[in-house]
Amino acid sequence: MHFSLIIFIVDVINSRIKYYLQKVNNQQKTNIYMPEQLKNNRLIKALLREPVDMTPVWIMRQAGRYLPEYRETRKKAGDFVTLCQTPELACEVTMQPLHRYPLDAAIIFSDILTIPDAMGLGLKLVESVGPRFERSITNSNDIKNLPLPDPEQELKYVMDSIRLVRRELNGDVPLIGFSGSPWTLATYMIEGGSSREFSKVKGMLEAEPASLHLLLKHLSDSITLYLKAQINAGAQAIMIFDTWGGILKTPNYMNFSLYYMKIICEHLKNEHSEVKVPVILFTKGADKWIEKIVEADCDAISIDWNSNIGQVRERIGKRVAIQGNMEPRILKESEKKIVDEVESILRSYGSGSGHVFNLGHGITPDIEPDKVGILVDAVHNLSRQYHKTK
Ligand code: CP3
Repeated sequence: MHFSLIIFIVDVINSRIKYYLQKVNNQQKTNIYMPEQLKNNRLIKALLREPVDMTPVWIMRQAGRYLPEYRETRKKAGDFVTLCQTPELACEVTMQPLHRYPLDAAIIFSDILTIPDAMGLGLKLVESVGPRFERSITNSNDIKNLPLPDPEQELKYVMDSIRLVRRELNGDVPLIGFSGSPWTLATYMIEGGSSREFSKVKGMLEAEPASLHLLLKHLSDSITLYLKAQINAGAQAIMIFDTWGGILKTPNYMNFSLYYMKIICEHLKNEHSEVKVPVILFTKGADKWIEKIVEADCDAISIDWNSNIGQVRERIGKRVAIQGNMEPRILKESEKKIVDEVESILRSYGSGSGHVFNLGHGITPDIEPDKVGILVDAVHNLSRQYHKTK
């Protein structure tokens, strides 16, 4: 009797110890990414459609040439590619807009063209021309010979930048990692850089669709590895930029662009099921396809200014959050016009969470930095009324 009581007590103590160990273990697992750990978690909450006190805001290309301090650091680096590949400098420019404005997120300073560069194409940014590759993809042999870059080797500089920025942010706001979509990266790889007509990639789509699919599949594999590595390095949300999806006809958009983005989303969801790293999909010029895009396993869609945000919200119901969608050109207007436009977008979205304020595309180099401050303050001040709990 005495002995069995001791056994019982030991059992109880054991199960308590097990319980606490499990609790600590779970905390350690989730602590790295859980929004609770962030001092400002508005972005993650809004992406997950959870209540917030005001609408979060960040700006596509928030670290860029409109900031004099960016131009200084770029001069110090020598050129754009070196700036991307030097983690200390990439970290410095990532932080620059956060020192100026109360933004709700940082986005890692890098480029979508890091993957093709790591595949050996040789990226250069030519002044007033745009990005160019030394080598381009012209046939199926080129595609078969493309390597699959190891994110912690050839792209280690991106992961090192993410680790540095996470340390520098010290939990203030979340850090967004990103990649181009397979289709958008393929356009640059086949055209050899920026393009207006997209004649080469469209030619391959018509004449050799199987080869193009081979390239898109290879890029999907590479992007999946790259984004998983970014998450492991500390990215707390992910954005996929499909800048050129909008040039395709509907069936081609479904088969050559959206199909591969969906596969990437599925892989990201499975791998990180114990921690929530929201994924934002952005196809520029996608208004007519929005119902289809939200069927991908994404948490949010980013929309450009050709969509009406209120109508998009009605069309998609409660499926995903919406990011957007002020026209970048408005930032050239007066303070009053900027504030009016912010107010009009907030009103159009209406009450409740699920909206991340952003531009409909990247900020241009001709914007006065003070205008960005006006925009950010207007979003915060004017949005409170849309988040009052009854
Ligand atoms: O948003 C951020 O602050 C993060 C940094 C970022 C850059 N490029 C830095 C950059 C991001 C998210 C990108 C994505 C990117 N890069 C896209 C998708 C988004 C979009 O704008 O549609 C695309 C298509 C590219 C490819 C690319 N890189 C182009 C077409 C250019 C030249 C365009 C231009 O504005 O001159 C770049 C260069 C580039 N990437 C710059 C920056 C700040 C300008 C570099 C410089 O001259 O210093």
